[in-house]
Amino acid sequence: MSTTMKIVATDAFALSDAERHEIEHEIGHYPDARAASIEALKIVQKHRGWVPDGAIAPVAAMLGIPAADLEGVATFYSLIFRHPVGRHVVKVCDSIACHLTGFEEVRDALVSALGIRFGETTPDGRFTLLPICCLGACDRGACLMIDDDLHGPVDPSRVKQLLEPYA
Ligand code: FES
Repeated sequence: MSTTMKIVATDAFALSDAERHEIEHEIGHYPDARAASIEALKIVQKHRGWVPDGAIAPVAAMLGIPAADLEGVATFYSLIFRHPVGRHVVKVCDSIACHLTGFEEVRDALVSALGIRFGETTPDGRFTLLPICCLGACDRGACLMIDDDLHGPVDPSRVKQLLEPYA
């Protein structure tokens, strides 16, 4: 008796030409393509807003590394988003210096202003709220980042004004 195995493609993910081009360009900067892992993931995230599971294998293939290795990088690096996020991502530092300088008040003000908790996205898709470890601006605590903009020290009473420019 013979059996026939039918392989059905369930993952329709494909890197765009632009993503491939930019990743190839980035790889060219390093003697070892593996060193471009984070930048390659950031390129996908720049184009899509996040890094879908399906992106891991084709990006790893371009880098010439096992997909599991790239998955490890993508999981470890907190600025790589593995789920869809809002148009703007608010990352609130919850490390020790910011804890001592008002993290809880800033978090509570954000939760109140946005109506969401950490890990959630507003229903209108405008903001995602995430905790993050030290942003390297400990002298500006309590601090946070909105997209690529660092804010701090943040006055909890002015959180709404801080969010306004991010439409
Ligand atoms: S502890 Fe918040 S920036 Fe370092």
